[in-house]
Amino acid sequence: MEDRPLEYDYSVTRLFLIFAIFLGITGMLVGVLLAWQMAYPGVNTFLGEGLAEYTNFSRLRPLHTNAIIYGFVLSSVWASWYYVGQRVLKVSMAESKTLMILGKVHFWLYFGAAFVIVVSLLAGVTTSKEYSEFEWPLDLGITVIWLLWGCGIAGLIAIRREKTLYISIWYYIATFLAVAMLHLFNNLEIPTYFASGGVGAWYHSVSMYAGTNDALVQWWFGHNAVAFVLTTPIIAMIYYFLPKESGQAIYSYKLSLLSFWGLMFVYLWAGGHHLLYSTVPDWVQTMGSVFSVILILPSWGSAINMLLTMKGEWQQVAASPLIKFMILGSTFYMFSTLEGPIQAIKSVNAIAHFTDWIVGHVHDGALGWVGFMVIAAIYHMAPRLFKREIYSKSLMATQFWIQTLGIVLYFTSMWIAGITQGMMWRAHDQFGNLAYSFIDTVTVLHPYYTIRAVGGTLYLIGFIMFAYNIYKTTTARPVEESELQNASPMGA
Ligand code: HEM
Ligand code: HEM
Repeated sequence: MEDRPLEYDYSVTRLFLIFAIFLGITGMLVGVLLAWQMAYPGVNTFLGEGLAEYTNFSRLRPLHTNAIIYGFVLSSVWASWYYVGQRVLKVSMAESKTLMILGKVHFWLYFGAAFVIVVSLLAGVTTSKEYSEFEWPLDLGITVIWLLWGCGIAGLIAIRREKTLYISIWYYIATFLAVAMLHLFNNLEIPTYFASGGVGAWYHSVSMYAGTNDALVQWWFGHNAVAFVLTTPIIAMIYYFLPKESGQAIYSYKLSLLSFWGLMFVYLWAGGHHLLYSTVPDWVQTMGSVFSVILILPSWGSAINMLLTMKGEWQQVAASPLIKFMILGSTFYMFSTLEGPIQAIKSVNAIAHFTDWIVGHVHDGALGWVGFMVIAAIYHMAPRLFKREIYSKSLMATQFWIQTLGIVLYFTSMWIAGITQGMMWRAHDQFGNLAYSFIDTVTVLHPYYTIRAVGGTLYLIGFIMFAYNIYKTTTARPVEESELQNASPMGA
């Protein structure tokens, strides 16, 4: 058994990968629509006044964030887990019937939940907690889906041949444990129908926490959702795919562990930066700011480790569009993890909070770091999953430049818009009267909203090119995996 080459089973990976691309297009399409709505409010009724209830900004915004974060990103994370997990643990899922069933049930329950979620958000059913909008029946379903993944991780680790757990596995485990904890605590809620003896909708609930406590738990959750959905699983991916694609060993394994524990310890205390100048205790706010600044260290530790992995091999960045995605992705990670701490400084946050600068920060991380890394991971996996060569490298390169231009237009326009907004809101005359009314800021921001919408549209066009490239890959010339194989971490 030990000597036989392993035949990995990618059936679950393929399901998650295809669904990720579908959800990516859906989520980004809605994002682009939102961006045009902000520039031209008439777009709120693009399907007519009769359907405006479903197509307006406030209905579509949570659809965008959920479809992208818990749809596109999580589905990609799971596609990568069912691929990377088997390879670095040197065990095939096919060796355990239970693991195969768990994997498939995991996917199909998630698939079903995704449709219920889309319908419920469009219908306006929401708890109104940002990034945690689902009502209790869905929260229970999500708990089951999450546990299925956890069982899959534990099961694969239990039957592994490779004793050492490669750093990517640590990051996947951390993602599983942290999100389980965040989800459970932030969604402790009281179903009002049952609590009141049958009043209102059966699925409606209110948070178990009240007022300031609710805000504290919500932003402890919110910030760590960024940490453990948009950061740690993405680091897990890059630690596998960059060495694998470039044929270079990770620059420093020690640095990867140091950054891992740094992230684990520091992230959990930084959520207070979302509540600066609010009713939460002052020490919590200060702690949020201080831990945010410290967070630069472990974040840059990971990013620099990725960049230094290319030491002496920079010609590969010029030659390979796939490596370009990963290296620019790491650079955007450094960028947003410097920008975030700056925004967390109280005096800066006084200008930045509630403005488009925050939206700019979100998207230089989301489009540049998360989006690019996921795209790179899928480009790496697809040929091995379908045993085909990538259909077109030049299409990949064109996509890279179109999307990069899109990101630059998105975040630069939002920086200018946000800082202009922040300054105009504060401006006052010598008597303390506000210099501008709210509508003055809206008028000034219009050109920047249009530029953002153009940038977002470019990013979406690039993503559609990516989907087309992957689709054509599934029908391209068949090749043996050995023809595609580069050197890899732990030889996997
Ligand atoms: C060192 C790391 C980071 C720090 C210290 C940080 C800090 C911040 C701060 C201060 C805000 C604004 C809070 C406000 O005034 O409303 C914010 C918002 C946000 N950041 Fe970061 N950030 C970091 C990294 C990232 C990364 C890598 C991403 C995504 C890939 C990200 C996603 C977000 C999101 C989604 C929000 C908006 C939350 C909301 O109000 O809905 N952050 N961050
Ligand atoms: C074609 C690409 C995209 C476009 C055009 C787009 C556009 C938008 C727009 C217009 C908003 C609403 C901003 C507001 O309320 O003022 C938004 C919010 C948001 N988007 Fe995107 N988006 C895109 C891709 C993504 C991706 C890939 C992610 C995550 C990986 C993401 C995560 C978010 C988040 C977390 C928010 C909430 C931000 C906040 O509350 O500060 N978006 N997006």
